[in-house]
Amino acid sequence: MLITSVVGARPQFIKAAPVCRALRAGHEEVLVHSGQHYDHGMSAVFFEQLGIPEPDVDLAVGSGGHGKQTGEMLALIEDLLLQRRPDAVLVYGDTNTTLAGALAAAKLGIPVVHVEAGLRSFDRTMPEEINRVLVDHLAELLLCPTAVAVRNLAAEGVTEGVELVGDVMLDTARFFVEGFDGAAVLAEHGVEPRGYYLATLHRAATSDDPERLASVVRAFGRLDMPVLWAVHPRTAKNLDGFGLRPLLETLPGIVPLEPLPYLETNALLRDAAALLTDSGGMQKEAYFLGVPCVTLRDTTEWVETVDFGWNTLAGTDEDRIVAAVAGLTYPPVHPDVYGDGHAAQAIVAAMERRFGGVT
Ligand code: UD1
Repeated sequence: MLITSVVGARPQFIKAAPVCRALRAGHEEVLVHSGQHYDHGMSAVFFEQLGIPEPDVDLAVGSGGHGKQTGEMLALIEDLLLQRRPDAVLVYGDTNTTLAGALAAAKLGIPVVHVEAGLRSFDRTMPEEINRVLVDHLAELLLCPTAVAVRNLAAEGVTEGVELVGDVMLDTARFFVEGFDGAAVLAEHGVEPRGYYLATLHRAATSDDPERLASVVRAFGRLDMPVLWAVHPRTAKNLDGFGLRPLLETLPGIVPLEPLPYLETNALLRDAAALLTDSGGMQKEAYFLGVPCVTLRDTTEWVETVDFGWNTLAGTDEDRIVAAVAGLTYPPVHPDVYGDGHAAQAIVAAMERRFGGVT
């Protein structure tokens, strides 16, 4: 098979790493980087750490409004697909890059493969929810991480081409994190196991709203242990723009950090007392590592983490966040709901059956 994979944002690099490896063992891949994330710490460092091949094409689209960013990617990806028509286009997750890749392919009659299909927050105010619904309805092969995702698709009448393959982020976690000695990372940040919280924040709904962002900052400042906060560039810009830096400086428990690479993030996560985040992927990474999570949203796509007691939805209200952290527990069970860490092989096998003439 010839497969064109389109990636562009940090979580997509984490998901693509094992799939690139599995795919290239027997097939040809053209790897396209949209350029949605472009800072070294948001992009290149993930390629280096996770051994992802150099992108064959870098569209260098960069930041912008949804229309401009998605539209530029769409035009450029269409040109690429017209130059060399693959057997399928592979897209991951729910970003603007995912939508652009899927739409360009679908309009040219090229099959779309969607990894992480079927997730729903049922919150259409999230740009990601719009992206994932559209991509699922364009895709010919829908590769779901969980049984809940399969059911979500069925509820929308999508049953053809749907396969449950497990969660590919677990592949990356098993491959890279389990054997990684994080002692030096903790020492570098001057923290002891279970003696700190790790935080990340980047959703538009949280970080683009001055009141909500301030409320979260105040909550972090009231916690009983230091909060190591890896600040996403969007959030960093807003902390400046909303004049929140002086507030941050009055709260000594908060330790703002630059965005962290994959291994450092997971080393700090593994030994944290808890994760505070509005990220989707990190809710799961915490679950994989048996670390409780307080999610700074009112909905989640990863409902299993909540069902098993490892994740608490706290929204962005200061008191609710503080109460959620105070009420954290370590549940006794930790079921394997995200597969067996071999989703990448299942993804490639599903593509071979559908597009590669393999039965
Ligand atoms: C995007 C995805 C989101 C995903 C997240 C992972 C969409 C709609 N959102 O959100 O689903 O969870 O990536 O991180 O696709 N910026 C930089 N340097 C970079 C990248 C971004 O400074 O390398 C700044 C720019 O000011 C930019 C802002 O961050 O405007 C937001 O970046 P963008 O890619 O639009 O959205 P994310 O918040 O990263």
